[in-house]
Amino acid sequence: MNGYITFLFSSSIGKKLLMAVTGLCLIGFLAMHLLGNTMAYAGATAFNDYAKKLHSLEPYFTVFNIGLLTIGLVHILIGVILFFENLRARPRKYEVFKNPGGMTFGSRTMPYTGILILIFVIMHLLKFTFVDKSVIPIYQQMAATFANPGWVLMYVVAMVIVAFHISHGFWSLFQTFGINHPRYTPLIMRLGLVVTLVIGIGFGILPVYLLIIA
Ligand code: HEM
Repeated sequence: MNGYITFLFSSSIGKKLLMAVTGLCLIGFLAMHLLGNTMAYAGATAFNDYAKKLHSLEPYFTVFNIGLLTIGLVHILIGVILFFENLRARPRKYEVFKNPGGMTFGSRTMPYTGILILIFVIMHLLKFTFVDKSVIPIYQQMAATFANPGWVLMYVVAMVIVAFHISHGFWSLFQTFGINHPRYTPLIMRLGLVVTLVIGIGFGILPVYLLIIA
């Protein structure tokens, strides 16, 4: 067991696998979160009831969140390790322009979009999760936040960054799983685009909707 964990965290393929599996889980969480957010279109009562129902699912809700946190931390930890490994391996000066090691603009910006997403998630949790919902219910807190165009703009920009991160991550996780046969490449690219657009636009549209109806 210990040897297996050491392999996952120290070997190159182990780290890529961990990155791909945790990334896939995080995309899965985003898909569920996006589905939950659609309840907001059904109005304040429906959304607040849905949120209350989720919180009443104890201890499963806490177990789920601990799992999510662990997965997120492993994704960040391996991402940081890979960033420094790539930095050390990167050729210098003129060689940089030769697309070293098959790196693309998308893959090079992954650490930076990742850091921005981490900052967004911390801010997002402070805004909507670690708040008292007993006096002002969560829908009303969300509506009050997005009545401010500044917050709407900030969320829309964050969703573009999330979409950008996913667009490359989705592609590279298929590479890691070895599904890169020329026959499947166009399909994977199309699927990646659909997932990116659904998540980016799906999340980004709610703050705009709440601003309009405010
Ligand atoms: C417009 C976009 C979004 C809106 C309106 C939104 C709204 C919310 C709300 C209201 C909650 C608190 C639910 C509750 O405790 O009752 C929440 C929790 C959370 N959100 Fe978002 N969210 C958005 C996008 C995102 C994105 C893009 C991410 C990740 C990159 C994210 C990650 C989380 C996490 C980790 C939690 C806490 C998890 C949990 O409670 O189980 N959210 N969100």
